[in-house]
Amino acid sequence: MQEIFSRRSIRNFEDRKVEREKVNRLLEAAMQAPSAQNQREWTFVVVDDKQELMVLSRVSPYSGMVAKSPVTIVVLCDTARLAVPEIWQQDMAACTENILLEAVHLGLGACWMGIAPSQERMDAVAKIVGAPPSVKVFGMVSVGYPAEGKENRFIDRFDRNAIHLNRW
Ligand SMILES: Cc1cc2nc3c(=O)[nH]c(=O)nc-3n(C[C@H](O)[C@H](O)[C@H](O)COP(=O)(O)O)c2cc1C
Repeated sequence: MQEIFSRRSIRNFEDRKVEREKVNRLLEAAMQAPSAQNQREWTFVVVDDKQELMVLSRVSPYSGMVAKSPVTIVVLCDTARLAVPEIWQQDMAACTENILLEAVHLGLGACWMGIAPSQERMDAVAKIVGAPPSVKVFGMVSVGYPAEGKENRFIDRFDRNAIHLNRW
């Protein structure tokens, strides 16, 4: 799957909207992710309002690209529906990675921003997007058409030393 190898974190975008069909496709990809006991407790807020993007971009020192993105997907977890509560972040990570890979497939660029487990940042994002108390913020993914020179591209990261056969 070529998308796995060419995906990069894209933090600069063209001044161009992402088509609604493409955003929907990203969310479809997210919802195809594996989850513990198939609990699929993810929920999303799609933010394309410039003012809200600006406010969201200030929740951490590492989320500045949110303000430059045409759309940012906030990935949240509905804890009211959790069958296996202790591993909700693993489910959210799987669905976030699906968004990143589908973005590459659609000719887009994306960047994952970690919010959990910082309670302060989780609370800040929840307040901005108006999430109810049972809904926890996991992270955010900014999406857009990559700016010139910032496209997805392969970097060889294969490390034979990280592999052990049968025993470490
Ligand atoms: C859990 C997680 C949290 C991350 N948080 C941020 C972030 O807050 N801001 C950011 O610019 N990049 C963030 N990244 C992207 C990483 O910096 C990036 O994946 C890493 O530098 C490798 O680069 P690549 O994605 O281009 O391969 C995050 C990635 C992960 C998996």
